[in-house]
Amino acid sequence: MNDIVYLNGEFMPLENARVPVLDRGFIFGDGVYEVIPVYSRHPFRLAEHLKRLQNSLDGIRLSNPMSNSEWQALIGEIIARNDGEDQSVYFQVTRGVAKRDHAFPIGVKPTVFMMSTPLTTPAQELVEGGVHAITATDFRWLKCDVKSISLLGNCLLRQAAVEADATEAVLFRDGYLTEASASNVFIVRNGTLLAPPKNHLVLPGITYDVVLELAAANGMPVETREISEQEVKTADEIWVTSSTKEVLAVTTLDERTVGTGKPGAVFRKMHQLYQDYKRTVMRQAA
Ligand code: PDD
Repeated sequence: MNDIVYLNGEFMPLENARVPVLDRGFIFGDGVYEVIPVYSRHPFRLAEHLKRLQNSLDGIRLSNPMSNSEWQALIGEIIARNDGEDQSVYFQVTRGVAKRDHAFPIGVKPTVFMMSTPLTTPAQELVEGGVHAITATDFRWLKCDVKSISLLGNCLLRQAAVEADATEAVLFRDGYLTEASASNVFIVRNGTLLAPPKNHLVLPGITYDVVLELAAANGMPVETREISEQEVKTADEIWVTSSTKEVLAVTTLDERTVGTGKPGAVFRKMHQLYQDYKRTVMRQAA
């Protein structure tokens, strides 16, 4: 494994990458990030990830240090310099290094860091058997549409899931479904796929968009609307989606069995559509 990373204009082995302790990412969690899955050395939905990066940067009032074509070239370079056909490219932009003061520093260059790790898509047994999730109160801030590196809320919630031997914590705010600690959430009721709308309470997932597009293109009944906790707890199917999890079925929620206790028919169809779609996109990119 090479583990070549990019930091502020240079490529280097991971162990050589150093950031000053006064970096605002370290001191305040003042930055944003992206995670892009790479299949057969092609970044998946790159344009959409770069658009979301721009929205996140706008959300924290930090100007984009690179153009989209510069990002594209850099991502291509990090993929080329690392091993593995399938990778997960992580990158973050922070507000840079400055004397500690909550207010924004003036004339400071943002810190840009990028790395790649091997992408492992979920094991077949998870796809076929489903996963366990817990429910939790969404106590995060009100700008969850910003992909902020300040992830303490998400970390606490994900840790609660891990301690309950669960894959995810499904979150509710004021009695309504938002998302999960590191995924978006869908449910199926009476054959209709339901998803919470995109707003400030959820991260606009790239996988979420793919799933909604595939559902619409394949004639599956879909509604994006507010979903009550009760509807989730009595759903026929519950799914979690993310760039690294793709689409997984939740088959137990807290102590309760979801639907039949096996990934449902609508999930199986979507999982197949997703795999077919990935193959098509990668063929076109090759
Ligand atoms: N997380 N919601 C949250 C809170 C997330 O952290 C993520 C992804 C998603 C799904 O977004 P996407 O489909 O674009 O991956 C939703 C990434 C993978 C992470 O933090 O590692």
